[in-house]
Amino acid sequence: MSPLSYSIPQRALHWGMAFLILFNLLFADGMEHWNRLVARGETVTPDDVASANIHAYVGIAILVLAVVRLCLRFVQGVPVASDVEPLPLRLVAHITHGLLYVLLFAMPLAGIGAYYFGNETAGFVHADVLKILLWVLLAGHVAGALVHQFYWKTNVLARMTKGV
Ligand code: HEM
Ligand code: HEM
Repeated sequence: MSPLSYSIPQRALHWGMAFLILFNLLFADGMEHWNRLVARGETVTPDDVASANIHAYVGIAILVLAVVRLCLRFVQGVPVASDVEPLPLRLVAHITHGLLYVLLFAMPLAGIGAYYFGNETAGFVHADVLKILLWVLLAGHVAGALVHQFYWKTNVLARMTKGV
C-alpha cells in the first residue's frame, strides 16, 4: 500500500535539501574564487580556503542526506502519481525525479573529485554540465508543481508541504 502523503522526515529532507542545494547553486563565489586562484597558481589564504570549505561541506551534507532520503524512500515508499496528470507528463515527472536523484549524488561526487583530488574533468562536469542540467530540471520541477497546484488543482504540493 502506498502512503497518501510524504512522511514528516521525507518532507523535512525535501525542503531542507532544497534550501542547501539552492544555497550552493546561488552562492558558489567562495569556491569559484578558490578555484581561480589555484588554476592561476596564485597564493591561497586561509580565508579563501574557509569560504571554499563552506561550499564543500554544504555539498557533502547534501550527499549524506541524499543517502538517508533514498533509504527512507525504500522503507516508507512515496504516494502514487496523481491520475489527473496525463500519462506522458506523468512519465516526464517520473524521469525528472529520477534525474534529480542522480544529480543529488553526481553533483557532490564531481565536486569532491575537483576539490580534493584536483581532477579538472570533474570540475568541468560539475560546474558546466551538471550545474546547467540541475537548473533545467529544477525549473521543470517547480513548473510542474505550480501546474498541479493552480491548473489541475491536485493535492500534489500539499502532500509535500502540510501533508494530506
Ligand atoms: C549539490 C551540491 C552542489 C552544488 C549544487 C554545487 C554547485 C556549484 C556551483 C553552482 C558552482 C559554480 C559553477 C560556475 O558557475 O562556475 C560550483 C563550483 C565548484 N564546486 Fe560545487 N556544488 C555542490 C557540491 C560541491 C562539493 C561537495 C564540492 C567539493 C567538496 C564542490 C566543489 C566545487 C568546486 C571545486 C567548484 C569549482 C569548479 C570549477 O569551476 O572547475 N561542490 N559548485
Ligand atoms: C533543489 C531543489 C529541489 C530538489 C532537488 C527536489 C527534488 C525532488 C524529488 C527528487 C522529488 C521526488 C519525491 C522524492 O522521492 O523525494 C520531489 C518531489 C516534489 N517536489 Fe521537489 N525538489 C526541489 C525543490 C522543489 C520546489 C522549490 C518545489 C515547489 C515549488 C518542489 C515541489 C515538489 C513536490 C510538490 C513534490 C511531490 C511530487 C509528487 O508527489 O509527485 N520541489 N522533489
